[in-house]
Amino acid sequence: MPVMDFAARYGPWALVTGASSGLGACFARDLAGRGLDLVLVARRADRLEALAAELEREHGRSVRSLPMDLCAEDAAEALHRGCDGLEIGLLVNNAGFGATGAFLADDPDRDARMVRLNCEAVVRTSHLFLPAMAERGRGGMVVVASTASFQPCPWMAVYGATKAFDLHLAEALAVELEPRGVDVLAVCPGHTDTEFHAIAGVKGPVAGGSADPAAVVKGALDRLGRRQTWVPGWLNRCMSWAPRFGPRRLTARLTGRLLASRMIA
Ligand SMILES: NC(=O)c1ccc[n+]([C@@H]2O[C@H](COP(=O)([O-])OP(=O)(O)OC[C@H]3O[C@@H](n4cnc5c(N)ncnc54)[C@H](OP(=O)(O)O)[C@@H]3O)[C@@H](O)[C@H]2O)c1
Repeated sequence: MPVMDFAARYGPWALVTGASSGLGACFARDLAGRGLDLVLVARRADRLEALAAELEREHGRSVRSLPMDLCAEDAAEALHRGCDGLEIGLLVNNAGFGATGAFLADDPDRDARMVRLNCEAVVRTSHLFLPAMAERGRGGMVVVASTASFQPCPWMAVYGATKAFDLHLAEALAVELEPRGVDVLAVCPGHTDTEFHAIAGVKGPVAGGSADPAAVVKGALDRLGRRQTWVPGWLNRCMSWAPRFGPRRLTARLTGRLLASRMIA
């Protein structure tokens, strides 16, 4: 879609969660290049401010940084209030984290935070920002799911379940909102070169290489309005299709074996 059309369809403002690093920072840069003004959200205020200054300088866009913990009670409502007066035409629900390890040894509070950030925050921000888009009859939402969305993930059990939730939510909303003029896209990256793996304790890709986050983001934004789901990379697409052809128990076992080999002990 030409840059002018993209901004007219999804502008004037885009809201990107998890913009302080990785895919989120790439979404912000790419969207600024497509002529959108930005609201940036994450916990690390210094990173958001540095990115805001870069986008204002290099793209001449207006940028509002809203440092906050999206796991906090009422965070989504605070975020909505922080966007008061701005016409948000695109919501990028990207913030998320993962963890590896045996479920029985997991910290239950960390798992609850993961569910709050990866799932609850997506539901709450969708409720707060999508109605105005539907009323205007134009807009979009990108939800960053994962290749982990397509099968159970032993040793990343909670993370895999949160990403299955994200995929199903986005695909369902894509159908509901299409007649209201709002495009929804679930992006399902495989191993991508960001800070995610150091935090989650993942050694390296299950198969193939590590994707460039800027390329993943460009591919996703190019597909918004044309597709409801996108898995970047042919090997990732094959692996996301494979579970359809085998018994679920076997899929879970094989996935568990692969993931166990990628955990940082
Ligand atoms: N990298 C991969 O291989 C991969 C593959 C599939 C899916 N994904 C998904 O891609 C999305 C982006 O992750 P990434 O790979 O770009 O990893 P990343 O570099 O670690 O970025 C995660 C972002 O989420 C923000 N965040 C984390 N906890 C937060 C909280 N409580 N409140 C607000 N913001 C929070 C982080 O900022 P602060 O720390 O400053 O808050 C950061 O900006 C995630 O949903 C992840 O599940 C990643």
